[in-house]
Amino acid sequence: MGKGGCGIFAYVNHGVGRSQRFIVDALVTGLRRLEYRGYDSAGLSLDRVPSLKAASTGSNGHGAGHGGAGQGGSAPLVFRATGKVDALVACVESTGPTSGLAWEVELDFHAGIAHTRWATHGPPLPKNAHPHVSDSGHAFVVVHNGIITNHAPLREMLQRHGFVFESDTDTEVIPKLAKYLYDSFPPTPDNSPRLSFLQLVQLVVRELDGAYALIFKSSHYPGELVAAKRGSPLLLAIRDPAAADAATAAAAAAAGEHLQQRSNSSGGSGGAATGAADGVLATADSHDRPAMTQRPRPGKRRRADQIEFFLASDASAVIEHTKKVVVLEDDDCVHLAGGSYAVYRLQRGGPPAADGAPAPASAFLSGDGADAHGGVLLNPPATVHRVIQTLELEVEQIMRGKWDHFMAKEIHEQPDSLRQTMRGRVISPGPACPAGRIQLGGISGFVGAIRRSRRIMFIACGSSFHGCLAVRPLVEELTELPVQLELASDFLDRRCPVFRGDTCVFVSQSGETADTLRALEYAKSAGALCVGVVNAVGSAIARATDCGIHINAGAEIGVASTKAYTSQIVSLVMMALLLSEDSASKATRRAEIIAALQTLPDAVADVLRLDAQIRVLATSLVKEQSMLVFGRGWNYATALEAALKVKEVALMHSEGILAGEMKHGPLALVDASLPLLCVATSDGHLAKMESVCEQLRARGGRIILMVDDARGRLAQAAGSTPDGASRVLVVPRTVDCLQSVVNAVPLQLLAYHLTVLRGHNVDRACPRPSVLPPCLHALLRFYLTRMTMPHAEPRNLAKSVTVE
Ligand code: F6R
Repeated sequence: MGKGGCGIFAYVNHGVGRSQRFIVDALVTGLRRLEYRGYDSAGLSLDRVPSLKAASTGSNGHGAGHGGAGQGGSAPLVFRATGKVDALVACVESTGPTSGLAWEVELDFHAGIAHTRWATHGPPLPKNAHPHVSDSGHAFVVVHNGIITNHAPLREMLQRHGFVFESDTDTEVIPKLAKYLYDSFPPTPDNSPRLSFLQLVQLVVRELDGAYALIFKSSHYPGELVAAKRGSPLLLAIRDPAAADAATAAAAAAAGEHLQQRSNSSGGSGGAATGAADGVLATADSHDRPAMTQRPRPGKRRRADQIEFFLASDASAVIEHTKKVVVLEDDDCVHLAGGSYAVYRLQRGGPPAADGAPAPASAFLSGDGADAHGGVLLNPPATVHRVIQTLELEVEQIMRGKWDHFMAKEIHEQPDSLRQTMRGRVISPGPACPAGRIQLGGISGFVGAIRRSRRIMFIACGSSFHGCLAVRPLVEELTELPVQLELASDFLDRRCPVFRGDTCVFVSQSGETADTLRALEYAKSAGALCVGVVNAVGSAIARATDCGIHINAGAEIGVASTKAYTSQIVSLVMMALLLSEDSASKATRRAEIIAALQTLPDAVADVLRLDAQIRVLATSLVKEQSMLVFGRGWNYATALEAALKVKEVALMHSEGILAGEMKHGPLALVDASLPLLCVATSDGHLAKMESVCEQLRARGGRIILMVDDARGRLAQAAGSTPDGASRVLVVPRTVDCLQSVVNAVPLQLLAYHLTVLRGHNVDRACPRPSVLPPCLHALLRFYLTRMTMPHAEPRNLAKSVTVE
């Protein structure tokens, strides 16, 4: 099984000599880039040297040279280990040479696959790690990210047919089903497979319910890979070594002509499929400032003599090799063979019956599938054209550089990420427009429609939800429309009524969060105008929305959302400003905010100077078991977000509390032992916040203050901790609606330092407790009762939660 937090990766070299060491390194490096998605076990599969020789010398590659491959000593090697990718490397180093790996042997043609996992079905044991295999001969080897919801009946059926399962996972049914189906179509008299690899995978995938990104490798189809996607992210990346080595951009562009997509004889791009591709491009175009540019459709079709392909759960795993990517759509299936690739559309449901009606999905699993469906199966599906896009992501963005952790790097990057979010969008005041203005190409054509909505609903999860909460007062103030906030899971659980006249804004860093994506599908089906505010370009939410704003914070690798959070707030503030552009009564307010946006990166740079002070504060809090964070108005979101960060990475209990609710329950918790962090920066609610602080202090509460006025009444009364740490954080002041951006930063730093001081690895991903098996739940509870947990791994969320 692979779950929301898993990463899959593949590397194919065609006509480019690569040693097995190089190939293993490529697979392992890909996994390291994806390790933030899950790291409790990892695995990879590559070919033994003898089979590769057969494949490369026999047919010069793929497709035609199936005969005889897959027999005898050609079983792909599979290595699996629990723990991080380092453990896998150790396993390959120690067992590889005795199992058929020859480090220095160079292979001209090869296809390898790899996986990094976070356990949900079955504990992290080698037997549950991917790749999963069909049989002891490894005829089919599969890596999977997602969840197969009908794995139980498939497993029963396969067991009835003699298959023996070794793992507790849902994924294992997939390679076994592939073998079962392969065996039900006996080879031709010259011992070639009767089905192409693509056709076989198509049959397998038809039987699967749930979400998946899958990569299949098989000894029957050496050098080939087939990948399929539904609901979990997957992209194909293409590297033309000649182009990559060329010194000039012109040479690179010319060499790019090699990167051809093959088309099958059934008629090239099918109408519906082509339409879908165009639709995607229209969506991508409609979001302004995309982080990808698109290549023109290739004119020639020919195979490349030398080419490398990569398949990966996300772009960070491929960017060091190439920027040319094809983002796959749900129900796309990619076939890599013979130095070219083709993308096909998979049909859902069973193969059509003779009368054209779809056959029951499992009809052919009864055992006579070959006879009943062989004719149908031999018709390959139509290809679909997918544009090769150029990633505008730089390798440095996915490297830690001088920083110990991605979280630290990303916190400190915020002045730049905010500038990037605003670049070209916040237009300075000038003679033509004295107050300045906002330009958001991705939604400019929809401003009228949004303004005419009967309400605006913001739908998101976690920090992204807090970003919406931070901006709600401003959207209400500037648009005078009813604004509703929805946590995506609750929105879905309630089947919240949505109407044609609604605008639904989906906010997500990853653009792949399952709950948010399902909520989007639901709102779309209700006819609402759907707007995406997304950081990951080409992600499912970015593609499925009618229009949107790219957050443009740059790649966020650390598991905790930091720079994406502050850039989300700024994106939503810009949206609110644009929506109120026509309102003369709001002109002064708008001008004030636009001016503050322009100085915001500097204010964030200033607040980052508190780093050392915050580390001292964190030291004074390191042994605490709990902390409450109070905020109200513009900073209610700040309180929730600070508490989430502390929970998520420092693994310390923390609650964000609306200060106005303090007397309605939380006050009972207040005594001298519990740290209370109060966000009390100047805005229209300061007097009320001061009063809350006074009441907390009257109960003996240990208050830590965030203020913007060091000489204010609250700050003067604050004092310091017994070990000398100041209890007052003085932050720069900005306009009220942007203060939450400035205020979030020291609290991110506090969570970061607490985490490091408590001995946890800040950047690693862990699953939500709700998807942990019972034994890990028990472990989690045990750890949560401990004050500190030196050297332990954290249990924070996976970066991208692609299952509900
Ligand atoms: C917290 C965090 C999560 C995400 C949430 C939604 O630091 O990262 O709470 O904000 O899982 O993720 P996206 O924004 O990718 O939809």
